[in-house]
Amino acid sequence: MGRLDNKIALVTGASRGIGRAIATILAREGAAVALNYRSGEAEARAVADEIATFGGQTMLAQGNVSDKTEAREMVKRVVEHYGRLDVLVNNAGITRDRSMRKLTDEDWLDVINTNLNSVYYCTSAAMEGMIAQKYGRIINISSYVGQAGNFGQANYAASKGGIIAFTKTAAIELAKYNITVNALAPGFTLTDMLAKVPDNVQDQIKAKIPMGRFGLPEEVAKAVLFLAADGDYITGQQINVNGGVYM
Ligand SMILES: NC(=O)c1ccc[n+]([C@@H]2O[C@H](COP(=O)([O-])OP(=O)(O)OC[C@H]3O[C@@H](n4cnc5c(N)ncnc54)[C@H](OP(=O)(O)O)[C@@H]3O)[C@@H](O)[C@H]2O)c1
Repeated sequence: MGRLDNKIALVTGASRGIGRAIATILAREGAAVALNYRSGEAEARAVADEIATFGGQTMLAQGNVSDKTEAREMVKRVVEHYGRLDVLVNNAGITRDRSMRKLTDEDWLDVINTNLNSVYYCTSAAMEGMIAQKYGRIINISSYVGQAGNFGQANYAASKGGIIAFTKTAAIELAKYNITVNALAPGFTLTDMLAKVPDNVQDQIKAKIPMGRFGLPEEVAKAVLFLAADGDYITGQQINVNGGVYM
C-alpha cells in the first residue's frame, strides 16, 4: 500500500532537479504523476522510464507554464487524461541573476512569468475540479530567498515572496472545499540551478549554512510527500527545508 494510492498528481518542471525528485517520490507512493516540462523532452522521458522501473504510472505533459494559455491547456490535458487531479505541485522555476543596476526588464518579466504567474495559471486551472470533488493538495515551491532576499536576485526574490503571499490567500479561499495550499521554501539545493552559481560564491554560501552542506532534491521531495499524503489539517503554511540558513 502506498500513501498516495489512487491519487493523481501533476508536477510542473518535473524533468530535472527538485521536480524530478518530487515526481519520483509521489509515484513511489502510488500516485499517477503527470510530468510537466518546457523543452527537456528527453529528460522528462528519462524520469518516466525511471518511474516505470518500479511500476509507477506517468504521463508527459509538455507546456510552457509561463504562458497562460499553454499552462491552462496543459492542466486541462492532464485532467482529461486521468479524469481528475488531486495533487498539484507548482515547482517550475528559473533564475536570471543580476544586481538591480544590471537587471533588464526582460530578466524581470521572464522570472516573474515563469516562477509566479505560472503558479496562478496552473492553480486557477486545477482548482475548479478540486472544488467539485472537495479534495485537493496544492504545494507551491517558493525559496528561502523569498523570505530573506538575496543580492542579485530582486526578480527571483519577488517571485518567491509572491508565491508565499499567493499561497496564504489561496489557502483561505479554498479551505472550505478541503483543498489545502502550502508553500515549501527550500534553501540551496544541489541541482542545475545551483550549479550555475560560481564555485567561489558556492563556498561563501555554504559557510553560512548551519548544517554546513547544500540540500538534496530528495530532501525537499520528502517534505512535499508529507504535505501531499499527511498534511490534512495543514494549510497556508511555509515549510522551510533549508539546513537552517533562514530561521
Ligand atoms: N536549487 C535550489 O537551490 C533551489 C532553492 C530554492 C528553491 N528552488 C526552486 O525549486 C524549483 C526547482 O528548481 P531546480 O533547482 O530543480 O531547477 P532546475 O534543475 O533548473 O529545473 C527546473 C525545471 O523547471 C522546468 N521549467 C523551467 N521553466 C519552465 C517553464 N516555463 N515551463 C515548464 N517548465 C519549466 C525545467 O524544464 P525544462 O528543462 O524543460 O525547461 C526543469 O524541469 C524552482 O521553482 C526553484 O526556484 C530551487
